[in-house]
Amino acid sequence: MAAGPSHWKRWYRRWETQQESFNPTREARFTAMLDLVQASLPARFTALDLGSGPGALSARLLHRFPKARCVAVDYDPVVLRVGRGALGTFGGRLHWVDARLGSPGWEREMPFRRFDVALSTTALHWLERRPLLRLYRDLGGLLRRGGIFLNGDRLPWSPERPDLARLSERVRRVHFRGARVDSEWAGWHRWWAAAEKDPELAPLFVERARRQSQHPEHPDPSLSTHVLGLRRAGFATVDVVWRHLENGILYARR
Ligand SMILES: C[S@@+](CC[C@H](N)C(=O)[O-])C[C@H]1O[C@@H](n2cnc3c(N)ncnc32)[C@H](O)[C@@H]1O
Repeated sequence: MAAGPSHWKRWYRRWETQQESFNPTREARFTAMLDLVQASLPARFTALDLGSGPGALSARLLHRFPKARCVAVDYDPVVLRVGRGALGTFGGRLHWVDARLGSPGWEREMPFRRFDVALSTTALHWLERRPLLRLYRDLGGLLRRGGIFLNGDRLPWSPERPDLARLSERVRRVHFRGARVDSEWAGWHRWWAAAEKDPELAPLFVERARRQSQHPEHPDPSLSTHVLGLRRAGFATVDVVWRHLENGILYARR
């Protein structure tokens, strides 16, 4: 018998826990992003969640804005399965799309032609420069004039600020009580190891591995690459509007 919603909700809750374990300001960042949305848009709007994972940002947005609708895009079949199973469609307001952001034609997979806001959390650091610039160019076409873009992610300090990079590292050690840096990721590794053993998810790992093999190793684009891409794509106000050390929110207005 196929697993029911409670099965997927358990995986979804465990996802939340492991993401929070390495990003202690994750919830504050979600709240700050949704405050920016509320301050910028009318009650009824269409949102695009880029690199949605199982839908943490989409779910918070749809709970907070009951007249909004949202498209969650990811290319990992495992997290899409968890998200679809745990959140469903929010009464038709949530659409799931399996697409690789920044690949040629990704935007044609979208169920709507125009969006009011595009958001992303902890995802765009996975894109290499070329797909990232293509993603921004295409977003320039998908977002209506006056629409906004919000990227909550690691926004590394520029190479001219090694002092701030070291400071960020020291603060992380304070937070993790001196634990080795790689131990922050233990929860993330445990989630993936356990998911692979779930008979409902195991078959999806074959396709996941195929897609990941085409994936670069954590390219971590610089803040100036993001800013350049957004300006080239026709975004006007482009700036960091919230920060906790290297964890920030980059805002841009179309
Ligand atoms: C750390 S997770 C964050 C998920 C979610 N936004 C959150 O905050 O919980 C990063 C997500 O980005 C997705 N991702 C990375 N590169 C992508 C790409 N090129 N196209 C689509 N999704 C991508 C991964 O599959 C993963 O689900």
